[in-house]
This record gives sequence, C-alpha cells and structure tokens, in this order.
Amino acid sequence: MTPSLRTLVGGCALAAGMWILSAPVNAGVPDLPKDSSKKAADADLAFLKLRLAELAPKEKPVDGQVKPALGAAMMLAVYAEVLGDANLKTEALKIAEAITKKDFKGALEMSKKLSIKPAAGGKVAGPMPKLNKYELTEIMSPFRGKSVGGHNIDRDIKDMVKTMNPTKIDPAHVEILAVRTAVISEFAIHYPNDKASVNAGNKAKWEKWSKESVDLSKQIAAEASKGGKADVKKLKMMLTNLNARCTDCHNAFRDDE
Ligand code: HEC
Repeated sequence: MTPSLRTLVGGCALAAGMWILSAPVNAGVPDLPKDSSKKAADADLAFLKLRLAELAPKEKPVDGQVKPALGAAMMLAVYAEVLGDANLKTEALKIAEAITKKDFKGALEMSKKLSIKPAAGGKVAGPMPKLNKYELTEIMSPFRGKSVGGHNIDRDIKDMVKTMNPTKIDPAHVEILAVRTAVISEFAIHYPNDKASVNAGNKAKWEKWSKESVDLSKQIAAEASKGGKADVKKLKMMLTNLNARCTDCHNAFRDDE
C-alpha cells in the first residue's frame, strides 16, 4: 500500500467513524403491523377526544393532563404514516400544534372531525413527525399512571412482570400497550436528555436502550396480536426484558425521581 493510499483509507475510516457517532439514527417510523396500529390509533383517538373535552373548559389545565394529549396527537401522526393515511397525519399534527398553543377548544373541534382511513397495501417509509415543544418530557408522559393523566403503561408493565401476584396478561391490552411503547421509544431515540448527551458513550447507551425498547415492543405487539393464540409465557418474558430497558435507562439518566 502506498503511503498516500494508506492516508486515504485511514481518512475514510475516520470519516466513517465520525459519521457513526454523529449521524441521526434512522428517523423513519417503526414498521409496526397495520392491524395493531389501527387498534392503537382507534384507542388514542378516543383518548384524545375525551381528554380534550376535559381540557377545553378548564381555566388552568394541569400539565400532566396536557402532555399525554399532545402525545396522543403525535402518536396518531405516526400511526397515520404506518397506515398510509395522509389526511390523518396532517390533521393530527394540526391538533398537536393547537395543543402546544393551549387552544384546547380548537383542538377538540378538529379532533371530532378526525377519522382513520388506512390505505390498502403500501410500505412504511415516512419520517418520524417533529414538533416544536414535543421533547423528552412530553414524549415520556403517556407512560404515566392513569390517575396522573397517562395510559398507565409503566404501572401495567411492572404489574404484569412482578413476582408476587402479577396481573393476568391480556393480549388485546398488551397489543395496544406495545404499539404505543414502540412509538414512544422511537421518538425517545432522538431526544437524549442532558445527562445522556455529555459524551458519546452515554449517547450510545441512550440509543441502544431506546432502540431495544422499539424492537422488543414490536415483537410483543406481533405476539399479542395473535389474541387467544398468543404465547402468554413468551409475552411475559418479553415484557420483563422491556421493563429492564426502561429501568436501565432510568437508573442511568433519569434524575426527576
Ligand atoms: C433511553 C432512555 C429511556 C428509556 C428506554 C425509557 N425511559 Fe422513561 N424516562 C427517561 C427519562 C430521561 C425520563 C425523564 C424525562 C423528563 O426529564 O421529564 C423518563 C420519564 C419517564 C416517566 C415519567 C413521565 C412523566 O410525565 O412524569 C415514565 C412514567 C417513564 N419514563 C416510563 C418509561 C417506561 C414504561 C419505559 C419502558 C417501556 C421507559 N420509560 C423507557 C428515559 C427513558
């Protein structure tokens, strides 16, 4: 190898290495099963309408109630991409924007007109939607407990996988939980908090745990979508793995607890 070629190759390797460190991770929506995404879309639209109806007349809405509404609108924009429903995507993003401007009445009116119309066939290829003020705190909020405005996902997962008196695993419930978790985790990949951004090692951990959460959630959704034929033992094992991802990341980076 001539020195000049070696330099060239070394230079390329260095450039490639830097690319790996600084390139955004695949920003596409997760390739979720359409049927499961339709179910999650129905559930989130129902949740969104209810929540907006509660928020609209309030003088001072509580943040914990607002953030999961924003989350539902943003998640609808993702399902819309999976379902090939361009109108749903546009409208869901308009609603999300109205929520960030605290125009809950406007958002409620728009949500009442929303319908979900999956397109036949097609391949999921669209980008993850983005919105100013939709960052990690907002992204994680649908995981919150029901009594504090969320979907109770955190509690539900922990209750299903605990050793003493675990709750029974209902595949229909887990299917929607897993689709939501896949979407939330996909959003999270792109929003490492300050602690996770201080160096490349932390950033890599952040990406690893959130990507693994996406993958596990997709596998859980696929198994749970078999309904009565779903392997409940396998579901429990995968939910246990998922829970470990949540906990690993929280232990390393979360300091709001
Ligand atoms: C890649 C890291 C990471 C992963 C993976 C992760 N979280 Fe979090 N989570 C965080 C951080 C950081 C916060 C604090 C966000 C903030 O600053 O508001 C948080 C906050 C939360 C909150 C509080 C939200 C609120 O509004 O009070 C809940 C609940 C939660 N996470 C549940 C989960 C569950 C359930 C999972 C797994 C299915 C999970 N998280 C996976 C990093 C992560």
